[in-house]
Amino acid sequence: MTRYEQIKTELQASPKIWLVTGVAGFIGSNLLEHLLKLNQTVIGLDNFATGHQHNLDEVQSLVSSRQWANFKFIEGDIRKYQDCEKALANNVDYVLHQAALGSVPRSIADPITTNAANITGFLNMLQAAKEVGVKSFTYAASSSTYGDHPALPKVEENIGNPLSPYAVTKYVNELYAGVYARTYGFKTIGLRYFNVFGQRQDPNGAYAAVIPKWTAAMIKGEDVFINGDGETSRDFCFIENTVQMNILAATAPDEVKDEVYNVAVGDRTTLNDLYQTMRTALKENNVNVQSELIYCDFRAGDVRHSQADIQKASVNLGYDPLFDIKSGIKKAVKWYLKE
Ligand SMILES: NC(=O)c1ccc[n+]([C@@H]2O[C@H](COP(=O)([O-])OP(=O)(O)OC[C@H]3O[C@@H](n4cnc5c(N)ncnc54)[C@H](O)[C@@H]3O)[C@@H](O)[C@H]2O)c1
Repeated sequence: MTRYEQIKTELQASPKIWLVTGVAGFIGSNLLEHLLKLNQTVIGLDNFATGHQHNLDEVQSLVSSRQWANFKFIEGDIRKYQDCEKALANNVDYVLHQAALGSVPRSIADPITTNAANITGFLNMLQAAKEVGVKSFTYAASSSTYGDHPALPKVEENIGNPLSPYAVTKYVNELYAGVYARTYGFKTIGLRYFNVFGQRQDPNGAYAAVIPKWTAAMIKGEDVFINGDGETSRDFCFIENTVQMNILAATAPDEVKDEVYNVAVGDRTTLNDLYQTMRTALKENNVNVQSELIYCDFRAGDVRHSQADIQKASVNLGYDPLFDIKSGIKKAVKWYLKE
């Protein structure tokens, strides 16, 4: 039995209370779905900045009414300390802090708003969680923290200079997390996500991520735009691997806390290859893709190549990603077609 299977069995036998911030977003709503299916109690906090009620509605349709009754939603803003306190005043065992403003270009266009949600909001959550003494605090960090460090694959200890305001905010989260461990003995785990994708990732808006944006365009027969020459590469990580990491991190023993971990597959796919993989997946679902591939300028703040070393997560937490890019894309494409 893997550690993940073992933990899920234990959680079902002895359910816990979880706080998921950013619960109406892509990753948050997937965490909610998995936790409710494990019969956990979930408190959700969100201000709908980029999250949607329809994500919560979809989760409701995927769980039993008894499981849905274990969910309590609080509409609130992590930039307000009182809202964080309110969410935590529910005997919370484990915090999965996902709320933030994602997107490198958004942060370049409006660094002040990104800073408020990602740094002030993070600090509010961290402080409020420390005050009530939760069992664990796991937060969404980011691969953008590797910045201009050239080494591949990315190993947690070696980071470069941040290339965007967003990357700064996610690095500051890690710095605060370290200070809280050293100053207050409050040990957390940061999860450096690498390009997560899957069901409920928003395909709309100026700051949509590449996979949902392209899938939507290809389904509609619209052109697909690539920033740069298409040889930019990423370690695309299917959402269910990310859910696994959150559950493993939240329940991890103290010795492996006060650390950050890469969350990815350990593989690297160019945007050109991604396009072909998505085309194939759509064709398998009888979509005759008419889209043209159009190359544009490189985008400011983007890292050229990204690939994770996942050894540390595998050794310390028992992380074992169950989906590679192809199997993940197959599931994601089916969801977008249904939508
Ligand atoms: N998706 C990725 O590939 C990726 C990669 C690296 C890191 N991350 C991080 O993972 C987390 C979740 O990202 P996601 O992809 O699900 O994005 P998302 O935009 O779908 O979800 C973020 C959620 O946080 C909420 N939120 C934002 N500001 C808030 C505030 N002030 N108060 C309360 N709620 C607020 C939004 O409404 C939204 O529901 C974020 O911290 C993001 O930076 C994501």
